[in-house]
Amino acid sequence: MNGSRRPKAEPALSGGAQKAPLRSLLIFCLLCLPLPGMAQQAAVVSAHPLATEAGVLVLQAGGNAFDAAVAVSAALAVVEPYSSGLGGGGFWLLHRARDGYQVMIDGRERAPLAAGADMYLDEHGQVTPGASIDGPLAAGIPGEPAALAHIARHYGRLPLEVSLAPAIILARDGFPVDPVYRRMARLREAPLRADPAAAAQFLPGGEIPAEGDILTQADLADTLTAIAQRGARAFYRGEIAARLVDAVRAKGGIWSERDLHDYAVVERTPIVTHFHGYRVVGAALPSSGGILLAQMLTMLADWPLDALGPVDRVHLLVEVMRRAYADRARYLGDSDQVHVPLAHLLSPGYAIRLARQIDLQHATPSAGSSVAVGEGRDTTHFSILDREGNRVAATLSINYPFGSGFVASGTGVLLNDEMDDFSLKPGVANAYGLVGSGANAIAPGKRMLSSMSPTFAERADRIVILGTPGGSRIISMVLLGLLDGLDGSPAAEIVARGRFHHQYLPDRIEVEPGALSEEVLSGLQRRGHTIRRLEEPYGNMQLIVWDLGDDRVTTASDPRGIGSGRVFGAARPAKPASP
Ligand code: GLY
Repeated sequence: MNGSRRPKAEPALSGGAQKAPLRSLLIFCLLCLPLPGMAQQAAVVSAHPLATEAGVLVLQAGGNAFDAAVAVSAALAVVEPYSSGLGGGGFWLLHRARDGYQVMIDGRERAPLAAGADMYLDEHGQVTPGASIDGPLAAGIPGEPAALAHIARHYGRLPLEVSLAPAIILARDGFPVDPVYRRMARLREAPLRADPAAAAQFLPGGEIPAEGDILTQADLADTLTAIAQRGARAFYRGEIAARLVDAVRAKGGIWSERDLHDYAVVERTPIVTHFHGYRVVGAALPSSGGILLAQMLTMLADWPLDALGPVDRVHLLVEVMRRAYADRARYLGDSDQVHVPLAHLLSPGYAIRLARQIDLQHATPSAGSSVAVGEGRDTTHFSILDREGNRVAATLSINYPFGSGFVASGTGVLLNDEMDDFSLKPGVANAYGLVGSGANAIAPGKRMLSSMSPTFAERADRIVILGTPGGSRIISMVLLGLLDGLDGSPAAEIVARGRFHHQYLPDRIEVEPGALSEEVLSGLQRRGHTIRRLEEPYGNMQLIVWDLGDDRVTTASDPRGIGSGRVFGAARPAKPASP
C-alpha cells in the first residue's frame, strides 16, 4: 500500500531497516577490498540528501561511479518524484578512467509509434491546451529503466540488486516529505487529483502530506524490485508492461506493447569543444545542450571577457545566447530521424561569423514572438566522481513537475509529459516558451529535443562536473557555471551566483532577483534589451570540482535547492607554499 504516516523512526537509509536488499549491500560492503590505484577522494552531489546518501553507500560498498549513478538515479525517482523517475528519461554522461572512454547514454523518451505531427491540434489546427502536459496522452515511452540496466551491465561492477537496494528501501519504508515536495505537489495538485492512482501515491488520504510525514510507495518498490531481479525486461515486457499499456490506453493514451518492447538506449558520442585551455564535453542530440554550449563558447573565445565592464559582459553573453537558441529553434531535432547540419553548426567559421554580427552597443532584435509560461522547476541533476577517476554527470527528467500527473495503476510508475518538448506546431511555444521547426516535429518513435546538459570541463589541473535542471534555461545556466568554473571560482560560488537568461524568443532577458545591479539593468535597457525581472530564483546546479594539482575534490549543491554533496576519502595534504 502507498501512503504516508507521521515519522516514528529515523528516515530510511539512516535507520535500522534490515530488508533483504540492504543485507546484500552490507554483505557486499564487507567483502569488498580497496582497489589499487584509487584517487584520493570520491564525491557525490545531488538534488536530494537521501539520493546522495544512496550513491555514497554504493561507492562504499565497492561500486564504481557508474553503479553509484544507478543508485542515485533510482533514489531520485523515489524521493524527488516531481523531477524524474522510472516513467521518464535522461542523459548520463560517462567518463571511464581506465581508457578515457567518454559516452552519453541516451535514455530519452520516444514518441509512441501511433504518434503523429498533429496529435495535439484541434479541428482548427490550434494546439489543445494541456493535452501535451496532463494525462497519459502527454507521455513518451520511458527510457530510464533501460538506461539504468544498460549502465549497470556495461559500465558498473555491482548487480542491480545491490545498486537499486537503497531506492527500494526508500520506496518501501518511505522518506520524509520536504518543503520542495509540498510546493511541487501544490503546483500540480489538479492533475494529481484527477488520477486516482496518482492521488493515492502522492496525496495519501486525499491531501498533500505534511512536512516530515513519511511517504511510502509500495507499488514503486515492487517495480524497482522486479527490475533489480530481472533487469529492464521486467519493465518493458510482461506484466508491468501490460499494466502500463492498459492504464495508458484506458485514459486516452496511445501506447502499445510494441512501443515498450522496441525501446532501446542509444550510446552517443558527446559534443566536444575547446575553450581557453579546457576541453568541454557536452550532451549530444537529442539534447541541444552540447551543441549550444559549443556554439556559445566558440563565439566567446576571442572576446576578452575578463576585461569587459559588467554591462558589456552581460550584453555579450545575452547576444551569444540569442544566436545559439535561434539555431536550436531552426535546426535541431532527433538526428536519427531528421537531417541536422551538425558539421556546419559546430564549425568554428560559422561561430566566428555569428560572433562578428554582434553589435556591442545594440541588442539584435529576435524575429517573431512567443510567450513563455513555464518556469522550468522540474528535472534533476547529479554529479559523481569515484576514487578511480570515473565520473558521471547526469540530468534526468519527467518534464513538468510530477510529469503528466498520471500513474499506471499497480506499478507506482509516474509517467512523464515529455511529448511537450516536441514542437507541437511550427512557431508555437511549448511550456518553456521554446519554439521549434519541423526538425523537432512529432513523428513515431522519434526522440523529442531536450535542453538537458550534463557537462564535463577538463584541463590538466582541474576537472569540473556539472549540470542543472531548469527547462529551457538549463543551457544558459551551464554556460554561466562553466565560465565561472573555468575561471577557477570555488564550487560554492559557482552554484550560488545570480543568473540571467535569453532564449531568442521571447526576446527578453530573464533575470533572477538580485542577479544584476540596477545600473547594469539600465545599461542593458539603453542598448535595447527588454528585461523581465523574475520573482523567484531558478535552477538547482550540482557540481564537483577536482583540482588535480593537490588532488582535492569539492562539491557544491545549489543553495536554491535542498540537495547535498559528500566527499570522502582522505585529501592529500596541501603543498606548502613556495618560499
Ligand atoms: N524536459 C526538459 C528537457 O528535456 O529539456
